[in-house]
Amino acid sequence: MSISYFRTAQTLVTGTGSISKIGEEAQKLKATKVMIITDKVIRQTGLLSKVIAPLEESGLVIDILDDVVPEPPFENLEEMITGLQGKDYDLLVGVGGGSALDITKVLSIMLTNKENVRDFVGIEKVQNEGVPTILVPTTSGTGSEVTYNAIFTDLRDQVKKGIVSAYLLPKVAIVDPELTLTVPPSVTAATGMDALVHAIESYTAIRAGELTDGIALHAIKLISRSLRKAVYNGKDLKAREDMAMGSLLAGISLGNAGVGAVHALAYPLGGKFKVPHGVANSLLLPFVMKYNAVADLEKFAEVAKAMGENIEGLSLREAADCAVQALAKLSQDVGIPSTLKEVGVTAEDIPGLAEEASKIDRLLHNNPRWLTVREIKKIYEEAYGTAEVPSLATT
Ligand SMILES: [Fe+2]
Repeated sequence: MSISYFRTAQTLVTGTGSISKIGEEAQKLKATKVMIITDKVIRQTGLLSKVIAPLEESGLVIDILDDVVPEPPFENLEEMITGLQGKDYDLLVGVGGGSALDITKVLSIMLTNKENVRDFVGIEKVQNEGVPTILVPTTSGTGSEVTYNAIFTDLRDQVKKGIVSAYLLPKVAIVDPELTLTVPPSVTAATGMDALVHAIESYTAIRAGELTDGIALHAIKLISRSLRKAVYNGKDLKAREDMAMGSLLAGISLGNAGVGAVHALAYPLGGKFKVPHGVANSLLLPFVMKYNAVADLEKFAEVAKAMGENIEGLSLREAADCAVQALAKLSQDVGIPSTLKEVGVTAEDIPGLAEEASKIDRLLHNNPRWLTVREIKKIYEEAYGTAEVPSLATT
């Protein structure tokens, strides 16, 4: 058994209505002056009042910064860092999707470190612990509230880059499904599929282990049984509860076992073609899984079972194939484009995309099956023009 670490938020507060506990949690952290970091859409929805009221009742002074943009470039982050210079906040509260939460995590360390933020790109480059954070996801997908990564777009290179540091983990994550009830169907679909990718990639990753396997499988079960309902009837609280918990569990698993080739191949699509992260992941998932499945048929058969597929009487290979086909169906059912063509990629773009993806060693080295630029190109080609994922039996 190899040595492994398990890290997550210091405290997890979950359940319907759990946002009401944010004031108490801020008090436990001895906070007095808080900055809430969010985006303009969240601010307009009125959702923020559920966060502000308990903080006010606990006597905190509150400022709000709503400049977060989706899939944020470093420039967006840098503007906010400049704006925060010299401020004496003793708590940062991130409210939103992955972008708002990632920005909050990085702003926290920028209040206690002198370096330029781009110096922190890479693994464990941050010197000092940041200002305490409470992270409040309003979508069920990124798992950012329990991961120690923050991802930004580098507009110069047109690629996504990550800051990875244990100091990015929050003191508290509050996961309240009620905050996700108004998320529109397309966002519910893309973020929900991203969460499913986190669960499946971390479950089948090289770094997967005893501490994460059960968590990942339960996440797969919750998301598979409720994503369609959450997309097509957003007010279904039970479905939203499953998605919130599934996304959190997938995030915990991802934060410790990591992800693999789906994310590696998705990043260049986000950087160059601005395909939303969840859409890029969902589109590529069945194709990468078809490639990966033969590397660990047992685990892929377990994925099929967790997805609720009937695998009784099937061979391992057939059961693994069942998982791949079920993933393709789920992605299509929730309305996500199923070919690269549909998201604006041309055949000529594929060699460049493959070259770019092949550089993301951090993720490719964690993938259960080895890939070079040749295999990556082949996967992009398969995903380019056909929604049909060939069955394992034919490859
Ligand atoms: Fe992701």
